[in-house]
Amino acid sequence: MVKDEKAWALEIADKIIAKEEKVFERNRNKVPYNTDENGRFDDWSDRIGWWTNGFWGGMGWQLYNATHKDIFADVARDTEDKMDEVLMNSAWMDHDSGFRWLPTSFANYKLNGDKKSFNRLILAADNMCGRFNPVGNFIKAWNPDDSGNRAGIAIIDCMMNLPLLYWAYKATDDPKYLHVAKLHANTAMKYFIREDGSACHIVQFDPMDGHFIDSIGGQGYGHGSSWTRGQTWAIYGFALSYIHTGEEQYLETSKKVADYFISEIPENGLIPVDFRQPAEPAWEDSTAAAIAACGLLELEKFCDGELKEKYHNAAIRLLETLTNERCDFTDDKDNIVEKCTAAYHDKRHEFAIIYGDYYYIEAIWKLTGKELFIWGK
Ligand code: GLY
Repeated sequence: MVKDEKAWALEIADKIIAKEEKVFERNRNKVPYNTDENGRFDDWSDRIGWWTNGFWGGMGWQLYNATHKDIFADVARDTEDKMDEVLMNSAWMDHDSGFRWLPTSFANYKLNGDKKSFNRLILAADNMCGRFNPVGNFIKAWNPDDSGNRAGIAIIDCMMNLPLLYWAYKATDDPKYLHVAKLHANTAMKYFIREDGSACHIVQFDPMDGHFIDSIGGQGYGHGSSWTRGQTWAIYGFALSYIHTGEEQYLETSKKVADYFISEIPENGLIPVDFRQPAEPAWEDSTAAAIAACGLLELEKFCDGELKEKYHNAAIRLLETLTNERCDFTDDKDNIVEKCTAAYHDKRHEFAIIYGDYYYIEAIWKLTGKELFIWGK
């Protein structure tokens, strides 16, 4: 285990900043998601509706907050501007408004009081409220696609989008945002969190009368499995609902999933895509490690004694393993974090994904004290 955590984290922060100065310069006009075979970022500016497109801007604001170097803020602002196209396209507006506009517009508004950013946040929050199903008390995740009408689908990931609504309540003094966020969180507690503390990815409700139909494996291995990134969305997401509301039930839920997650961390400290995936093929997902570390470092702030130590040590172990075994700090590659996986059944596994880098930086920044807290507060 690392002895002097702050010194260790500061050393990593220096390496991250040195790398990202070059990476941001050479990718300044892009909105990256993955890398190509040469380790260079791709560009999703022409697919700007994709849910991950706020993380590049979020990296920019985190790096700007730590360095005050203009390149980082300039790129973050450009990404935010490009994303205005999403606000004008109802087919692209799904429940992931928190992932899109908290790392970009909220960060910009918090740091600079930007009025355009405020406007974007309110438009996004209103659209998110419009997705609420008042009979089932859930926020609809996705829009219809070739697979059909998805009006009854809710997913655990949405817990990370709720801070946009908690913020909108405070910003406008309109409690409708708070009601929607809490009603969704209560539904998620009831239908997504299992007895053993694990969380399922997708729940299908009947959108007409709101009754529970079934849970679906989603991006994990299958029905009843335990998709690791979904576990981390629950740990961090319920902790955020507690931070915004002070309601103990959300804190307890975050702890329950955290305890389960920690009990499943393999001996080598590397996180699989699904804790219940078969021995073969077994894939890794470093994003889950980075997000879990962020969630646990937040959660420990509301715990004492052994529990606090348990969450803290688990976060450090995850970060230490990621740093030593899955991070590239050279500027040969654009990404930092390696071996990320979007979904177990995808064709491609164990590659670079932008939110792996975002959450890794956020976690290291939590240890150095350089973090810009972007989750609605
Ligand atoms: N929110 C989708 C994912 O975590 O892949």
